[in-house]
Amino acid sequence: MRPRTGHVTMDKRHRGYRHKSIAGHQIHPETQMLSYGYDPQLSEGSVKIPIFQTSTFVFKTAEEGKEFFAVAYGLREKRPHEEPGLIYSRINNPDLQVLEERLVLWEQAESALVFSSGMSAISTSLLAFLRPGDVLVHSDPLYGGTEYLIANILPRFGVSAVSFPAGGEGRTVDQAVTEARARGHVGALLIETPANPTNGLVSIDACSRAARSLADQPGGRPLLAVDNTFLGPLWQHPLEHGADLVLYSLTKYAGGHSDLIAGACLGAEEHVAPIRTMRTIFGTMTDPHTGWLLLRSLETLKLRMTCSMKNARTVAEFLADHPKVRTVHYLGFLAADAPDHAVYQRQCKSAGSTFSFEIHGGEEEAFRLLNGLQIIRLAVSLGGTESLMQHPASMTHSDVPPDTQRRMGITPGMLRISVGVEHPADLVADLGQALDRM
Ligand SMILES: Cc1ncc(COP(=O)(O)O)c(C=O)c1O
Repeated sequence: MRPRTGHVTMDKRHRGYRHKSIAGHQIHPETQMLSYGYDPQLSEGSVKIPIFQTSTFVFKTAEEGKEFFAVAYGLREKRPHEEPGLIYSRINNPDLQVLEERLVLWEQAESALVFSSGMSAISTSLLAFLRPGDVLVHSDPLYGGTEYLIANILPRFGVSAVSFPAGGEGRTVDQAVTEARARGHVGALLIETPANPTNGLVSIDACSRAARSLADQPGGRPLLAVDNTFLGPLWQHPLEHGADLVLYSLTKYAGGHSDLIAGACLGAEEHVAPIRTMRTIFGTMTDPHTGWLLLRSLETLKLRMTCSMKNARTVAEFLADHPKVRTVHYLGFLAADAPDHAVYQRQCKSAGSTFSFEIHGGEEEAFRLLNGLQIIRLAVSLGGTESLMQHPASMTHSDVPPDTQRRMGITPGMLRISVGVEHPADLVADLGQALDRM
């Protein structure tokens, strides 16, 4: 089958400002989030990009339509400087294109694709590379939906998996790769770092080396994909450490207001192109309105993530000093001799604002704490403006068998908090009164 890429950088009418520097001064991503890739004069002067709420686009002539399809479906190469045209919103849409052009700027990626959810980004990307008989190597724990995909759906397509635990300098990835190789063709490596909910780290460099050690496999080495939802796109840039693909639940920090579901995949165009084909055929792209909401959200991404990151330290310090709290898994507290410390120093730009902690007691005490909260919301998800708290053992990770939960370090007394942008003193007061009543 011919590739149906539908790759459109921008229609001429919407090609706007793409300044990367002025008078030799490099423009920062937080500035570019306000204007990059959009020219108001092409939309009646609207300072914000309109929502292009349309399923299809009118061609000026039949010849133009034929040309647009020829490029989108890979029937001919793009000519130098040719801007392929808008066709149909499953293939391309201005809100999604501008969003993709802005998403790449935080981590200097070549290409991005946006999806209807984090799970559709992960599943569409994996299915673009995995073949029957392949073995997937992955870190443990992963987000529950990803675990389910690997354990229950990929085996139906003949794909098996070998996992290795997060934590340390990644010695265990080599063992997992050796085991996978003995079983068959290694189709891809997938890691999540920091891991949800334990904040265990996986060395991206070590996994990249492991993927590159398989260069003599038939068809070449497998790609390394990193789920960067917890720290990206501000606080961790996996591509700089040898990752090939960066995956996101944009539902979290990028969306940032707990009012949308979306996902993304970033990387070099040669790796992103086959995933774009899959997205076009599966129809797993997001819609224009969600794309527009995400463009709004990206304007405040740095403000929100910086505020949450500062608040998280205050909250983590309060919890660490509280007599009813046993331990706080906050990356900023990693001791210099902790196994994850070197990985943290090398690949994380901040401790972020989602972490778990364990209280003295089990589920009963944890539930009493959750039920006593008055400002912090009792809900799953993370990365929103409001602080959220939940109980991983009975909520996000409830489908993980108890012995596996224990192995992963998920205890009955563990709670996960996503710290928002409220005044930090209010969050401390709320936790304090709920802990007192626990
Ligand atoms: C680390 C991680 N990856 C992926 C996902 C899935 O994202 P979505 O809910 O947008 O499909 C989540 C959701 O919680 C997550 O925490």
